[in-house]
Amino acid sequence: MKKIAVVGSINMDLVVETSKLPEKGETILGDNFFSGPGGKGANQAVAISRLGGDVTFFGCVGEDYFGTELEEYLMLENVESRIRKDPDLSTGVALVNLFENDNNIIVVSGANGYYSEDYFEKLVNELLNYDIILFQLEINEELVFRLIEKLAEYKKQIILNPAPACKIETSLVEKITYLTPNEHECQIVFDSKKPIEKIVKEYPEKLIVTHGDKGAFYSTEDKVINVSPINITDIIDTTGAGDTFSGAFAYSVSIGMPIKKSVEFANTAAGLSIRKKGAQAGMPTLKEVKDRLMVLNKEGD
Ligand code: RIB
Repeated sequence: MKKIAVVGSINMDLVVETSKLPEKGETILGDNFFSGPGGKGANQAVAISRLGGDVTFFGCVGEDYFGTELEEYLMLENVESRIRKDPDLSTGVALVNLFENDNNIIVVSGANGYYSEDYFEKLVNELLNYDIILFQLEINEELVFRLIEKLAEYKKQIILNPAPACKIETSLVEKITYLTPNEHECQIVFDSKKPIEKIVKEYPEKLIVTHGDKGAFYSTEDKVINVSPINITDIIDTTGAGDTFSGAFAYSVSIGMPIKKSVEFANTAAGLSIRKKGAQAGMPTLKEVKDRLMVLNKEGD
């Protein structure tokens, strides 16, 4: 099994369940509140660990209560971590609204945004010990792009989940092994309004696009493949489903699964993750994914 490093954000998620969202200037009463561990980087590391992957998380928190709590959550999930604690910045928080089986999120990055030349050098030295490096864009973008450039020189396998999205230069795309945006992020990354199937076709076996209720799209040299979503009747919380997909995809790459199987595996893991409240709570174990895949394969016979 290859060693995976996740370099990314770690947040405390403050979640409101509500049946509607307020207008500008309006106050409304929400239905319920809970908090829990989140951040796209930490979520993806937890997804990998639940599946039994060999994962280490690299990120930054503040020297505060949330930072201490989040570090403990990672330990409980058996995620190795190398966390920088900043005395001057607060730990990242995400304000999550859950409504109509979907969510919207405002992230205040705090310590996640930290970047210095020394930190860059330190990360490069550490990351050379890993085979697969998984990034998102919820930390300093320049730090991520420079790390990708550097690690590509050492022929590392690089997976980028470009969320939140920004346009990415073609020269950088070439250095990335796999990209896992959702359909909205995909159009921003490639600065294109073309249909997803067309964009996917231009990046065979590199670009995998998740598309909520349509499952996932990727392309081989000759055709676009749509992996259907698994049927989940009890949708509780979709927060972290994209992170489960990217984490599970990195895990399957780490055990040498071919791309077809990896996308099916990740798609199934993401589908299973939405049956519990909280970004990380519903992330499945390896057995749960295998059991569901077995049922799906039997149905397909
Ligand atoms: O992808 C879901 C995550 O986005 C949440 O856990 C929240 O922290 C934000 O980073």
